[in-house]
Amino acid sequence: MSTGALSTAQPMAPVPLRVRSLRRESADTFTVSLDVSGRPGGFPFQPGQFNMLYALGVGEVPISISGDPGRPGELLHTIRVVGSVTEALRRVGRGGWMGVRGPYGRPWPLEEARGLDVVVVAGGLGLAPLRSVILHLLRHREAYGRVSLLVGARSPEGLLYRRELARWGKDPRLKVLITVDQAGPEWKEHVGVVPALLRDMALDASRTVALMCGPEVMMRFTVRELERLGVPDTRIHLSLERNMKCAVGFCGHCQLVPFFVCKDGPVLPYDRLRPFLHVREV
Ligand SMILES: Cc1cc2nc3c(=O)[nH]c(=O)nc-3n(C[C@H](O)[C@H](O)[C@H](O)COP(=O)(O)OP(=O)(O)OC[C@H]3O[C@@H](n4cnc5c(N)ncnc54)[C@H](O)[C@@H]3O)c2cc1C
Ligand code: FES
Repeated sequence: MSTGALSTAQPMAPVPLRVRSLRRESADTFTVSLDVSGRPGGFPFQPGQFNMLYALGVGEVPISISGDPGRPGELLHTIRVVGSVTEALRRVGRGGWMGVRGPYGRPWPLEEARGLDVVVVAGGLGLAPLRSVILHLLRHREAYGRVSLLVGARSPEGLLYRRELARWGKDPRLKVLITVDQAGPEWKEHVGVVPALLRDMALDASRTVALMCGPEVMMRFTVRELERLGVPDTRIHLSLERNMKCAVGFCGHCQLVPFFVCKDGPVLPYDRLRPFLHVREV
């Protein structure tokens, strides 16, 4: 599924967009804002969708859109530098160019979640594709029941969007719980694993939908805890990462047994994923 694709004449050709600004999020992670001011209507997308970002002459990688779906005039991606393409994207710098094609992928089921309590669970970089969900939920707050955000990171320094997290933590419309694997004595939030946060939540399983992204081991243990609390598999949604090339269902690079993660996902309900979650790459 794709909405508002950048180029209809050549859907596989990246469109060059200029880097408007860069912001450092942590030692290895930055958020880039791309200039879409020349496009009527900006860059509409749905929370959970991703773009293919192309570093000229180096390569192309899938990166979630981390901006606010209610502000299509601003196109944001949060990128962790792990290898050659993400390193080349970091080197582009302000005023330089990146190639972009998208948006691609099945988004978070925010329409289905209307009227329900929403538990958003993010591990590490998994907060990037969920930031747009939180911004959507806050903008349409009256349409949802209780909204909770559970965030896990290795250390306080590894947390993304720290200022925004602090602001959300004070917002009465949202319950925010943060945990890290390890921290010094100055850390006042939780220490431990993400699923443990669920035990303190007095969650009403009969009216809860869970949206989750993070390391697969974290997601497996969190799913187990949600199931123990009685949340049905059909209302637990996970965003998956797999290697991608085409992003439009042609090449099979992202195949997870019956699914092409690029077009059937990246967001999938756990009742469909359950038999395949342990499969790394095909
Ligand atoms: C749908 C989707 C959405 C994504 N959204 C984001 C996003 O918002 N931000 C983001 O930074 N990344 C995101 N990724 C992951 C991103 O695409 C990869 O990190 C990127 O392709 C790595 O390319 P590279 O050439 O820099 O590194 P490579 O040379 O491909 O990999 C370098 C090393 O890093 C390892 N590696 C690859 N990916 C990861 C990873 N995700 N985490 C840790 N180690 C990794 C590889 O196994 C290898 O050992 C997303 C992936 C998918 C499929
Ligand atoms: S990346 Fe080509 S089929 Fe999914």
